[in-house]
Order: sequence, then C-alpha cells, then structure tokens
Amino acid sequence: MVEFCEKTEAQFQQLVSRYPADQRKAALLPTLWLAQEEWGWLSPEVMRYVAERIGCTPAHVFGVATFYTMFLTTKPGEHLLEVCTSVSCCMTGGRETLAALCDKLGIEPGETTPDGKFTVRAAECLGSCDTSPMMQVDNDVYVENLTDGKLDSLISELRDKPWGQRTQLASFTAAGERRL
Ligand code: FES
Repeated sequence: MVEFCEKTEAQFQQLVSRYPADQRKAALLPTLWLAQEEWGWLSPEVMRYVAERIGCTPAHVFGVATFYTMFLTTKPGEHLLEVCTSVSCCMTGGRETLAALCDKLGIEPGETTPDGKFTVRAAECLGSCDTSPMMQVDNDVYVENLTDGKLDSLISELRDKPWGQRTQLASFTAAGERRL
C-alpha cells in the first residue's frame, strides 16, 4: 500500500487547505507532482491513491496524468533524458542529437537501457529555443547547445551517480547551462 511520507503529507495538507473541502479535485495537478516527486513515477497504485486523497475517480486521475507529458505513467530509468525535437531544435540538429544519444546508449527513443540507468525520449519545446539543441535531465536540469562531446560527458557523469540521487550536474550547470 502506498502512502505519502510525513514530509509529503504535510505539503499535501498545506496544498489542499487552499481549496474548499468539496473542491479538492482542483488540487489534482500539484498533488500529482507531489506523488511523482515521492515515487519517481505514477504507477496505477499511486494514481488510485491520489484519486482517493483528492476525492475523484481513478479514471479522472489517469486521464489527467496521461494528458500532460511531464507526468510519467511508466517507470523510467534512473535518469530521464528528454531531447527537444520541436522546430527550433530540429533546425539546429535536435533529431540528430536524439538519434546520436540513443545510438550511444543502444536504445530507441522511449526505451530504457537494460541496466535501468537511462530512459530517453523526445520532448516538445521546452522553452529554450535560443540555446538549441537542448535537453532536460530528470525533469530538472537543462543542458543546452548540445554537441556530441557534451553527450559523452553527460552520459559519463550520470553513470557515476548513485541510484536515486537527485541530479546535480556540476560540470553542466556551471558552464552556461541553467536550472529551471
Ligand atoms: S524548440 Fe527546442 S526548446 Fe524550443
């Protein structure tokens, strides 16, 4: 059985206190964020739990969670690499970057490496068109002006991160890349 940890429960209570008791459903999106932060993805069990806490049907939660691409309804690898393939990034090599990254990891877009370390997928515009091609790592760090060398360095740095450690890319956040 899933249950928010003490810290998340406190955040949830603070969140729902902003809404009338019969309108908790309005807090669904931020509650899904809390759940994804806690468990790393939204399993069917987690979505049922959120539905129960919010007071709506699991089908409603599933519909919302699968509409927004930032919510993960399948278990990702330890690190989620999302390469933008929208127009600006395409014009500067976004699709080739995605293909090169997948080649280096031996997977196709949407797949996870057999060791569970990396999941790669294409993303729509992430609002960093002026520094294309770019990617987002773990729903958090932007790595911009991607080159083949940067992909190699990124993979190498992330491979050494212990399982479950939130991404801190020292060499990438210090050199022109930015955090959200
Ligand atoms: S098109 Fe890639 S960040 Fe906007």
